[in-house]
Amino acid sequence: MTQDELKQAVARAAIAQVPVGCIVGVGTGSTANYFIDELGKIKHKIDGAVASSEASAQRLRKHGIEVLDLNNVSDLPVYVDGADEITRHLAMVKGGGGALTREKIVAAVARKFVCICDASKLVDVLGKFPLPVEVLPMARSYVARELVRLGGQPALRQGFTTDNGNVILDVHNLQILNPQELETTINQITGVVTNGLFARRGADVLLLGTDKGVETLTH
Ligand code: 5RP
Repeated sequence: MTQDELKQAVARAAIAQVPVGCIVGVGTGSTANYFIDELGKIKHKIDGAVASSEASAQRLRKHGIEVLDLNNVSDLPVYVDGADEITRHLAMVKGGGGALTREKIVAAVARKFVCICDASKLVDVLGKFPLPVEVLPMARSYVARELVRLGGQPALRQGFTTDNGNVILDVHNLQILNPQELETTINQITGVVTNGLFARRGADVLLLGTDKGVETLTH
């Protein structure tokens, strides 16, 4: 199976995780896009969605799914999103699409985080994929220097502005042995909005697309 077919398979499988009559948290990226397309097929069974990016909101609306403001939603039973890397402990690196901050906010509200990935995303140690860090523009150089002090090599994502009007530093060469600790340390640098480590609030379920079918991993 191709990588896209694996992504489609996990997107289809994720529909079983969506309770009837609920508002669904929806992530960002190519795997999340396949999930949105699947959600379109069962839109009469859900009450609407909360999106983690403008791009996902647009795609949801195209399918005729109502997109709600998170501030008006108090109960979000499930959030479905992809990842750039994930461990068997269900800690992730996310933000390849630059939507990490809104993803983290929607994930914080959700009762269950269902991660959908093709098998290439499963790793033993996080950090081969450069860690995205969203930064207020005026703090870019300062934060970059602090990230170098932590052992990383930050690179400004060229020509990219987040939905929140900020920039992204992609941090290369990190071998992330303690994801929860590094997540906290980077978030404490002044000027950082958030970083792409989802370890303190990791996934609850991983649906992993493999050539043998969709595997389910939980805590
Ligand atoms: C976007 C993300 C995505 O979930 C991540 O980049 C994976 O994307 P894809 O499904 O296209 O491989 O975090 O900010």
